[in-house]
Amino acid sequence: MTGMELVRHRRSVRTFDGNALKEEDEKNILAFAESLDNPFGLSITFRLLNAKENGLSSQVIVGTETYIAGKMSRAPHAEEAFGYSFEKLVLYIESLGIGTTWIAGTMNRQTFERVMEVGPDEVMPCVSPLGYPAGKMSMREQIMRKGIKADTRLPFEELFFDGSFDTPLTPGSAGTLADPLEMVRWAPSAVNKQPWRIVADGSTVHIYEKKSKGYVDGTGWDLQKIDIGIAMYHLALGLEEQGRTVRFSADDPGLAAGPDTQYIISGTIA
Ligand SMILES: Cc1cc2nc3c(=O)[nH]c(=O)nc-3n(C[C@H](O)[C@H](O)[C@H](O)COP(=O)(O)O)c2cc1C
Repeated sequence: MTGMELVRHRRSVRTFDGNALKEEDEKNILAFAESLDNPFGLSITFRLLNAKENGLSSQVIVGTETYIAGKMSRAPHAEEAFGYSFEKLVLYIESLGIGTTWIAGTMNRQTFERVMEVGPDEVMPCVSPLGYPAGKMSMREQIMRKGIKADTRLPFEELFFDGSFDTPLTPGSAGTLADPLEMVRWAPSAVNKQPWRIVADGSTVHIYEKKSKGYVDGTGWDLQKIDIGIAMYHLALGLEEQGRTVRFSADDPGLAAGPDTQYIISGTIA
């Protein structure tokens, strides 16, 4: 599958067929996870966990006992780094025909953190179940997807802009960026809020976070910055498929953005 096909085929899988993950799949997933890097150079430790043996659960997941979780040191840009790396892993897992769901909230977090031995200066941003998708979604999964409109995304023109936030970019006017940006559009995000906004300016893209209320906790940890990291990986993958590269660095162009819209990072495309 191409990157675009992987992105369009992936969905959160919350109902699995009950079969245990094959040993070979486990091995490949762990090896891939251990090889991951991200533009922030922050390292993440991944572990495969058995739910039954460790008392782990998620109220939205049925039909699998296997989870993967990642932990890392708290640091600036940890959220984006985790988003980038974990999404790279999610799409690799998708390519194996294995289902995943990003989970930050709907699990017994304390137990996961204890089993992951999360230290005082560490954070375990998200986990995912791993398994083979069931033929039919549970009723709960169907209701959940409807509630968060999981099968839809905001229109291209509301997410992407040309030179400034005053001029919407369309698939027609985006040129070679059309496909990479379409891949960003279909990225997963917490509660499907899609906080990414991108202003394209020649061979540079400026990435912003349009914040929704209630996603930053008392420690300053911002769940929606994970979504931004996911968007960065989709963009990088789309460009890579075109034989291009993107180098990310913070270089705020000082554009006028909306009140809840924060500059995060820019990408230079070559
Ligand atoms: C950072 C992050 C956290 C998420 N947390 C949860 C969660 O706690 N429980 C859940 O069921 N889904 C969770 N999701 C999945 C989203 O609801 C889902 O990606 C979104 O609705 C789009 O649906 P799709 O993944 O099927 O395309 C999370 C997604 C992201 C990116």
